[in-house]
Amino acid sequence: MKDIFYITTPIYYVNARPHLGHAYTTICADIAKRFHKMKGSETFLLTGTDEHGDKIVEAAKKEHKSPKDYVDHISGLYKKLWPELEVEYDCFVRTTDKKHIKLVKQILQKIYDSGDIYYSEYEGLYCYGCERFYTERELVDGKCPDHDKVPEKIKESNYFFSMSKYQDWLIDHIQKNPDFIRPGRYKKEVLAFLREPLEDLCISRPKSRLQWGITLPFDENYVTYVWFDALINYISALGYPDHENFKKFWPVSQHIVAKDILKPHGIYWPIMLHAAGIDLYKHLNVHGYWNVDEYKMSKTLGNVIEPMELKNISSTDAFRYFLSKEMACGLDSTFSEKAFVHKINSDLANDLGNLFSRILSMVHKYFDGIVPEYDVKYDEGMLSDLKQNACDAVLAFEKNMETFAFHKALMAVWKFIGDMNKFVDSSAPWTLSKKKSDRGQLEAVMYWLVEGLRVISGLIYPVMPDTAKIMQKHLGMDPDFFFFNFDLLKKWGEIKPGTKILKTVILFPRIDQKKNSDEQNDVLPVDGLKIKPEISFEDFLKVDLRVATIISAEKVPKAKKLLKLEMDIGEKRVVIAGISKTYSPAELIGKQAVIVVNLKPAKIMGILSNGMMLAATDDDGCSMATVDKPVAAGTKLS
Ligand code: MSP
Repeated sequence: MKDIFYITTPIYYVNARPHLGHAYTTICADIAKRFHKMKGSETFLLTGTDEHGDKIVEAAKKEHKSPKDYVDHISGLYKKLWPELEVEYDCFVRTTDKKHIKLVKQILQKIYDSGDIYYSEYEGLYCYGCERFYTERELVDGKCPDHDKVPEKIKESNYFFSMSKYQDWLIDHIQKNPDFIRPGRYKKEVLAFLREPLEDLCISRPKSRLQWGITLPFDENYVTYVWFDALINYISALGYPDHENFKKFWPVSQHIVAKDILKPHGIYWPIMLHAAGIDLYKHLNVHGYWNVDEYKMSKTLGNVIEPMELKNISSTDAFRYFLSKEMACGLDSTFSEKAFVHKINSDLANDLGNLFSRILSMVHKYFDGIVPEYDVKYDEGMLSDLKQNACDAVLAFEKNMETFAFHKALMAVWKFIGDMNKFVDSSAPWTLSKKKSDRGQLEAVMYWLVEGLRVISGLIYPVMPDTAKIMQKHLGMDPDFFFFNFDLLKKWGEIKPGTKILKTVILFPRIDQKKNSDEQNDVLPVDGLKIKPEISFEDFLKVDLRVATIISAEKVPKAKKLLKLEMDIGEKRVVIAGISKTYSPAELIGKQAVIVVNLKPAKIMGILSNGMMLAATDDDGCSMATVDKPVAAGTKLS
C-alpha cells in the first residue's frame, strides 16, 4: 500500500496582499509534498484563506468594499499566486465556504453539548488589533506587544472553552510524542507556556461588536472567535467526518506554520480536537521569521517584499532555492536583495549552472552528444569515491527532507555538486581526450559525470522543479519515469549508454547586482526611466513632510545600521533611521532632515519610531534629504 502524506499551510488572513513570509511557508509545504511524491506517497497539500473577524471588516472598509467583495478579491490573489510560484496545492479552502461553516457549527455544538463550552461574564483587557483579551503579564509596559496600544478594559458576557481542564493531558501528550512539535525549541516553548495555569479561551464575540463571522449554533447573538473558526479548516477541507479524504489523510496530518502562531496550533488546536473526540494531528512543524534587512516585515514600515518582484529578478526556481537554503530550521532569517543576488550567482549560476554546461559541452565535443559505453574495469579509485559521495548526498538529503530541514538537505546536494566540480578538474577530460590510449578512461569519466548530473537533477526537483525538468530533458531522460522515483537516485548506472544528450543551455544567467538594484527601486518603465505607478495629487497630499532639527543621536544597541534620533519638529519626536554606516551620531547634531511625520508609528528593535527620515541610497552609502538653507523646525514641505 502507498504511504500517505498530508501537509497544510496556515490559511492566510485576507487583510493584506501575500508577501515573502506567506510565500515561504507555502513553498516549504510544496517542497515537502514533491519530495514525498517522489518517494511514492499519495500526497495532499492544503492551503487557503482566513476570512472572518474584525481585521477583515476594517480592511474592507478602507477599500470601500463590502467584506464579501473584499475577501473574494484578496483570496483570489493568493489563489493566483501559488501556481506562479510552482506550488501545486490540492485544495484551497476558504473559511467563508459553506462546507466549512457547517462543520464549524457542528463542532461548536458537539463541544457545547459535552459541557466544555460555558457562558460567563468576563471583564478583561481587549486589544482590537489582535481581536483578543490580554492578561496583565502578556502586556509590555501595559501595552499590547504587537500593536503598541494600551488595550481597552471591556466587560461582556461570552462563551468560554474549558481549555484549562485539558492542560495536564496536553503536557502528557507532548512529552510522550517528542516529535509532535518540532524543532525541539518550539516544543520547549509550548511546554514552558504550559507550566503556568492555562486560562479558558473566550470563543465568542457579541454581534453588537462583530457580525462578520460564523454564528454560534446555540446562541444567535454571537459569532465565534476567528481562531476557533480558522483551525477547523484543516479537517473541513478533508470532509470530516465521513469523506474518504479525511479517513485517508488525517491520520498522518502535518502542519507547517511560523512561530507567530505557535500557541493556537500547539495549544488551542490539540485541545479542540481532543474535546471534539477527534484524533490529533501528527506533527506541527514550526519555522522562524523572515526579517527584511534588520526589521520585521510590515506594511507600516513599508518593507514588505512581494514574491513576484523577486521572482522577476531571476526565476521562480531561484527564488524557491534561496528561501529554502537561507533559512535554517526553526531560526529567523534576514532577507536582503544583495544576498539573494549573490546566492543565485554563486550557487546556481556558478556551481550548478557551470557544472551542467561544462559536462554537456564535453559530451558533445568528445562523443558527438552520445552517452558513451564504458568498460567496468575503470569502476575503481576515483569513481568509487564519486559514487560514495553521491550516495552520502542522497542519504543526507533524504534524512533532512523528512524533518523539514531543507537548508541541510540542500547543503548535502551542494556538497556533491562541489565534489563533481572537483572531479571534473582532477580527471581532466580535456587531457584524456588528447591520447588514444586514454579513450577508455575518458568514456568512463564522461559516463560518471552524466550519471552525477542525473542524481543532482533528481535531488533538486522538490525545490527547483523547472530546472530539474530542463536538466533531465537535456540528459535524454523520460521525466515522468525519473521525477517520481526517489529510489532511482540511490542507484548508479541508470542512464543508458547511447542516450542522446541535448546541446547545453544556461540554467541560471548571472545577475548584474548594480543593474538589478536600479530596477528594484522602480516599477514602470517610462521613457527609459523606471518610475512607480502614477498616483493622484490628493494621494500625494496625504503625506505630511516636515523639516526636523536633530537634537541628539545614538546607536541602537545590537543593530548594524540603526541610529536613534531625537528630532525637533515643534515637538519632540524619536525616529529610528538606518543611516549609521554613513553618518556618525556626533556629526548629525544640529543638522536638518526631511521626515514623514504622519506615518503610523512602528517599533524597531524595541524602540518606537515616530516618523521616517528620507534619504537617497547608492553604492557609496546614503545621503539624507535636507533643505537648502536652515528653516524653523517643523516647517512643512509643500
Ligand atoms: N489566519 C491566521 C492563520 C490561521 S491557520 C488556522 C494567520 N494568518 S497570517 O496571514 O497572519 O499568516 C501567518 C503565517 O504567514 C505565519 O505563520 C507564516 O506561515 C507566514 N508568515 C507571515 N509573515 C512571515 C514572516 N515574516 N516570516 C515567515 N513567515 C511568515 O496567522
